[in-house]
Formats: sequence, structure tokens, C-alpha cells
Amino acid sequence: MTEVTIGSVLGDAEAPVRLDARRFNRHTFWCGQSGSGKTYALGVVLEQLLLHTELPILILDPNADFVHLPEARETASAEDAQRLAETDIRVFRSSAGVGEPLHVRYLDLSTASKAALLQLDPIADADEYNVLLHSDERAETFSAAEMLARLRGSGDPGQVRLANRIDNLEVLRWDLWSRGESSVVDVIDERPRGTVLDLGGFTHPAESKVAALAVLEHLWARREERRPILIVIDEAHNLCSPHPRTDVERALTEQLVQIAAEGRKFGLWLLLSTQRPTKIHPNVLSQCDNLGLMRVNAPRDLLELSEVFGFAGEEEVRRSASFGLGQALFAGGFVAEPTFVQMGERVTEEGGGDVRVPLRGTPSA
Ligand SMILES: Nc1ncnc2c1ncn2[C@@H]1O[C@H](COP(=O)(O)OP(=O)(O)OP(=O)(O)O)[C@@H](O)[C@H]1O
Ligand SMILES: [Mg+2]
Repeated sequence: MTEVTIGSVLGDAEAPVRLDARRFNRHTFWCGQSGSGKTYALGVVLEQLLLHTELPILILDPNADFVHLPEARETASAEDAQRLAETDIRVFRSSAGVGEPLHVRYLDLSTASKAALLQLDPIADADEYNVLLHSDERAETFSAAEMLARLRGSGDPGQVRLANRIDNLEVLRWDLWSRGESSVVDVIDERPRGTVLDLGGFTHPAESKVAALAVLEHLWARREERRPILIVIDEAHNLCSPHPRTDVERALTEQLVQIAAEGRKFGLWLLLSTQRPTKIHPNVLSQCDNLGLMRVNAPRDLLELSEVFGFAGEEEVRRSASFGLGQALFAGGFVAEPTFVQMGERVTEEGGGDVRVPLRGTPSA
């Protein structure tokens, strides 16, 4: 099947809207202000792609919104529930003690990424950087204490400084590291139909970013294998900011700009969701050929959107200001023409969810 049904024409509940699944071989931008229903709608589309195509999907999920993706709702049709149960979807969690842990190997990181993590500059910190560049630490022997002891025991000033830096930044204490266990990239390499990386539960804010960087640079490093994967990033401004503030953020933005520019032919396809177009690096935005637009109110954002996504139509983009919950404009390669949509129902449970205002006399849950 090449088309997936994601809802109905706005104002005509009987007329289904279908997306051309083949056109997810482009990058897609997904936009709408907070509460417009982006994450829910994204879920609708991803579920349909899981149920009706063979496309492997990787979800970088900052709010544990997709951790229930393997579980059908009670309202799901028996056919969908059955098919979902047969679909290989893996969920990796960052919250301590919940589910399969999200780990990556420190030693797998590229030298540039290790340097970003350790805030090392190749010129200003030439000696330490050079130790990183030529270090031959082996994954099998990994132990932070051993590594530090080895560096310190060398007597080489660069190595001692590097050890102190690693120790002082306390980065090797992170829960993120696999410490001899398997890395999530091993599973991604098997190309299960769905892989959900719940990034929101780490203790240190940089951990989720380094996790994303490790996965993205791994996919990029193996791009020549040309194995398709749809890389979905919800709240993509966290990972693809035009104004990165740390070395790790800069590395992430650069990696995503590179995938946006050159990933298409290698089967690395992005689907980036965020609240405002200006929160994503412009070189990524301009590479998106598909648009899913939900309610956007700010005139400046509407202007930016119609400039970048000329194919959606100025009038059409403006109309998104009046959208209600779950209403969207789809435009670009994956629809024949710009189409207004009322999103369909989810098949699986939403995770995350809004926190409710506690009210008198009602249960707080
Ligand atoms: N089509 C829909 N039908 C029913 N409920 C919906 C629909 N779309 C969204 N909702 C509900 O509305 C709320 C907000 O939706 P959602 O979380 O998807 O918004 P969002 O645009 O991702 O917001 P944010 O930018 O803050 O993450 C959620 O509680 C969600 O369950
Ligand atoms: Mg959301």
C-alpha cells in the first residue's frame, strides 16, 4: 500500500485524506503552537506508517509521549490491534528503573563529539584534544576508573589534564553510558519497525542531547549502507537550534544540517516537529519538502512559514490561525494539493499528557 489515511477533509467527515507514504523519502516539517495537537497528530501519522508500510521509524521523544506506541487502545479495531501486536516496536527509557534502559557507548562517540562533550577545543586545548584523537581505549575494557587511572599513570601532562577534565565534569558518571551493556545503536542497526527513544528522564540536561548526537552521528557514519529510516524528532528545537549554546548543541545542529542537506539520497529522512519555524535552523527548514501545519497564531510565524513553504500557499498558511484542536494543513510532496484536515483517531495510547490543574473535590490523577 502506498497511501495512508490520516484523517478527513476539514468540514467533510466522510472524505478521507490520504498521504502518499512513498514521499516520506523527503524531509518533513511539522509545526503548530503549544496545545495545537502536534504530538497527537504526529502519532496518528506514525501509527498509520507503522501499520501500513515497511518504513523503519526512529522517534526521538523528549516527553515520553510515544512510550506506549506498541500498545493498542481499547477503541482500536481488532485488525489494527492485531497488526500492531505483530509489529516490532522497541521502547528505550531514560527514567531510572522503567523499561529497557537507553544506553550508548562513550567510546563509540566520534572524537569531535567527545571533544564537544568535554568542551575541548582542538587549538586552545591542543594537548588534551590530541590525546582524545589518538586514544585507543577499547570498548571491552571500558571502566571509567580504569581509564582515568591509565591516563593519570601515563605521566604525560596532556593525558593527566584530560583525566582531570573528565573527572571534574563528572560526565562519565551519567546513566546514559552502556558500561559494557549494549548500545541503542546496535538495535537501531537491526532496523526494527519502530524505535522510541524516551529522552526526557535523564538527570543531567546534556545527557539527552548526547544520546541524540550519538544516534544521529552513528546513522550518518553508516549512511553508505543506504538503509532507509524515518528520523522523527518531536520538540526539534531542542536538537536543531539556530542558536546553539553549548558545544554539544552546536554539534547536534551541524549534524542535522548535514542530514537535511545530504541525507535524502542515503535514506536518512527527517520529520521535525516544533512550535515556531524560527526555532529550527534555517538550513534545515529550507530542506523540508513536506509540511504538516497545525494552529499557528503569531503573524510573524505565519509570514515565515509562507515564505519558506511557498508550495503551501499564503492564503492556506494564514488560515491555520483559525484552526481548532486536531486541525491541520498538509502540503508538499506527500499530498496531491494543499489539504485541510481533521486528524483521525489514535490507535495507541498517548504517553506524557498534560498536567491537570488540581481542583477541589476531584481526584488529582
Ligand atoms: N485530534 C485530537 N483529538 C483529541 N484530542 C486531541 C487531539 N489532538 C490533541 N489532543 C489533545 O490535546 C492536548 C494537546 O495536544 P498535543 O499534546 O498533541 O499538543 P502539542 O501541539 O504537541 O503541544 P506542545 O507543543 O505543548 O507539545 C493533548 O491532551 C491531546 O491529547
Ligand atoms: Mg507536543
